[in-house]
Amino acid sequence: MKFKSITGTKDLLPAESHRWQYVEQIFRELAHRYNFKEIRTPVFEHTELFARGIGELTDIVSKEMYRFEDRSGNSLTLKPEMTAAVVRAYLQHNLGQQQPVTKLYYLAPMFRQERPQKGRLRQFHQFGLEIIGTPGAEADAEIIVMTADYYVQLGITNVELRINSVGCEKCRPQYKEKLKEFLQPNLPHLSEDSQRRFETNPLRILDSKDDRDRELTADAPLQKDHLCTECNEHFTHLQEILDEANIEYSVDGKIVRGLDYYTKTAFEFISSALGSQDALSGGGRYDLLAKEIGGKDVPAVGVAGGIERLLLVLEASGTETGEEPHPVVYLAAADNDSRAWLYGITRQLRKHNIPCDTDLMQRSLKAQMREASRQHAQYVIIAGSDERKNNEVVVKNMEVGDQQNVSVDDLVHILQQQLSGEHNATEKSRA
Ligand code: HAM
Repeated sequence: MKFKSITGTKDLLPAESHRWQYVEQIFRELAHRYNFKEIRTPVFEHTELFARGIGELTDIVSKEMYRFEDRSGNSLTLKPEMTAAVVRAYLQHNLGQQQPVTKLYYLAPMFRQERPQKGRLRQFHQFGLEIIGTPGAEADAEIIVMTADYYVQLGITNVELRINSVGCEKCRPQYKEKLKEFLQPNLPHLSEDSQRRFETNPLRILDSKDDRDRELTADAPLQKDHLCTECNEHFTHLQEILDEANIEYSVDGKIVRGLDYYTKTAFEFISSALGSQDALSGGGRYDLLAKEIGGKDVPAVGVAGGIERLLLVLEASGTETGEEPHPVVYLAAADNDSRAWLYGITRQLRKHNIPCDTDLMQRSLKAQMREASRQHAQYVIIAGSDERKNNEVVVKNMEVGDQQNVSVDDLVHILQQQLSGEHNATEKSRA
């Protein structure tokens, strides 16, 4: 075949899609339990929104964006992350007008032209939460606690939460100078990337993956030890709430994140099951972003996590991720003249919420029975001209092997009874 999917993108095939539905459904349910409301924004935005929001000098903006010009000459970009887009929508639609605090969640595809590897794709998917409208550390805690709850609910245990404070526009400039003073003598020995970052974003040198950089920054001064009073109180209060909520974490002064909009809280959930791409999710506070993209001053905090990475961790730990759905009932025609009649019954069952399937290829009864087994149907309904004459069908229980004739008028009721009986029995055996 001439065409293949683009490097770094993946087809989600039917054998896998139930696993995605499972993690997405748990996320939605949990978000609703925490009173977050869903937001969906377009897949592309004006390039400038991300350039200003995330920061011109970040890797995402300078190297990774899918940027293109449309036919009218506008520079547009496939969204590399949601936060800037969510804040744009919040400001544009004045969402803060109705209530002081807006709690939003999303599940959406993102696009970054990175070098593909395990856990790193060019189209990937994020779950995310944003709380817009309050500077309080309670909101930071709410974001972190729900993310931790999500992992617990999925059965992910090998995950570690690291938190930090990256200060604010008051205390960061002085700290930056201190850090540069410390790094200056060893500047020629730092990696090329870090040398480049020395002027543009020296904080990012602290989370370099390069061994030599790590050695040279082992004793570097950290922002968390040079916070202004306001940032310090905020960080202490966040830790108090996390302690009360029984959330395990460690303070890691080297968590600086790759996006420029963070102030005060920055955090990551890391999993050892992921190898070098070990961040399951990350986030923090971004009090200056709304103003940066031309809006009013609105404090906010949020998180986003990769769904692909989540599924990798679940797979590595062998955790159950739901079952592939299959039809409960398969309807098989014993002769061609009965097919249309049987299709009417299929429709009745579906109207009553009974998942079923039937032959669409005019296959022989034998082939239809084989198909029913292949699809793991619990019941097969068989009908030919004799059954049709009597307005009845044969219902075969595939597990037990027995079969009975049932009047079409009673069919839905009988199937519903049998299925709810089985459901109750499984619930009992589970309990
Ligand atoms: P981020 O750290 O760039 O933050 O991405 C969040 C998560 O998305 C990462 O921890 C990782 O799980 C996943 N991820 C990122 N890039 C890739 C990739 N190329 N392939 C697979 N997964 C990836 C943000 O995007 C911020 N918007 C988070 C945030 C929300 N901050 C405040 N609110």
